[in-house]
Amino acid sequence: MSQVNVTRRYRFCAAHRLHTDHLTPEGNRAAFGKCNNPNGHGHNYVVLVTVKSGGSQEARDLERLDRVVNEAIVRRFDHQDLNRDPEFTEHTTTGENLVKLIWDLLVTRLPAGWLEKVGVIETRDNYFEYAGSAQLTGESHG
Ligand code: NI
Repeated sequence: MSQVNVTRRYRFCAAHRLHTDHLTPEGNRAAFGKCNNPNGHGHNYVVLVTVKSGGSQEARDLERLDRVVNEAIVRRFDHQDLNRDPEFTEHTTTGENLVKLIWDLLVTRLPAGWLEKVGVIETRDNYFEYAGSAQLTGESHG
């Protein structure tokens, strides 16, 4: 049976600074360049959330998705400094880590097997996406 997916788009604006305490100041500058600037900088993040299409249930499903994403993601990050988020105490606020965190926050709040993929557009040219670790081991969500 063919599966159709649907993707919803969400936005938040947030500040961050790429920095890790595991590197020296010189090491941080070498690794992250201008993104290590102590004053930080901001992005207008776009979050693309892909779920399995629900057929006749679609409208109700997407209302539910909007509610979950707005509560768990947009409200949490919009107009915040990502470096101050508790989940980023141990992790650098890269797009890679952000897209994985958003996946983790959503997959635990949505019905099992519904979430297919999360994408994060950070800048005009940087896009990150994550589909969960299960797919790497070949597990199927049916
Ligand atoms: Ni940045």
